[in-house]
Amino acid sequence: MDEMKKIIVANWKMNPVSLKEAKTLLSEVKKVASKLKHVTTIVCPPAIFLQGLAPNIQYAAARIQLGAQDCFHAKQGAHTGAISAEMVAQSGAHYVIIGHSERRAEGETSSQVARKINYALDAGLCPILCIGEKVRDEHGFFLKYVEEQLTESLRGVSKKRIATITVAYEPLWAISNEMLRPATSEESHEMVLYIRKLLAQKVGANTAKALPILYGGSVEAKNCDGFLRYGGVQGLLVGHASLEAMRFAEILKIAEFV
Ligand code: PGA
Repeated sequence: MDEMKKIIVANWKMNPVSLKEAKTLLSEVKKVASKLKHVTTIVCPPAIFLQGLAPNIQYAAARIQLGAQDCFHAKQGAHTGAISAEMVAQSGAHYVIIGHSERRAEGETSSQVARKINYALDAGLCPILCIGEKVRDEHGFFLKYVEEQLTESLRGVSKKRIATITVAYEPLWAISNEMLRPATSEESHEMVLYIRKLLAQKVGANTAKALPILYGGSVEAKNCDGFLRYGGVQGLLVGHASLEAMRFAEILKIAEFV
């Protein structure tokens, strides 16, 4: 990973409703993303659209990539409705979001997350591991929560493998669905330092220093500059603001010049 490059992930969640609309949105994003030298844009559509979108991004492979929003915690077999990491990779994705809070809210456990990471890496995908506390209490218990979540989500993942993942810090209270208020760049910075310290204990300071950490939660054009400049992060995970091409393009352009 080019250390200077920003990573901007578009998490489309369960949108848009048709492949046609997904193609239109991707082609608008591509127009901007393919011109940016200092940004890697990772578009994560619903899994069913991956194969249909893959041919649209081939030529700009280095600057815009496809990712999935999840994969299953087993290699294959009797798992009705599930999509394996290998299937995701075959569909043309290079990345996969794992452990998103909306998946965890559906019952996904950190031990499943750890297995997903290993299957994703087996399939040649780059996992984007999401972690983040539900609430920020005054006593600092949220720090313990994040520590446990990170440790459990990486249990059984080798040091060598941890060195290849991307971590996204997404405090649940700042994600647009549940939003109480957006995080500040100071809060992001503090947490990124803390996550890096925890990672350093697992993989050593040098490796931890090089791991990309992203911030996610109500990222907009109006606050992205602050997160990128002062939030201690290499990039952003963008939800609702990635669904409108113009709005998302603004974020990409800001990231190019930070
Ligand atoms: P949001 O979503 O930008 O809409 O808050 C971020 C996320 O859930 O990944």
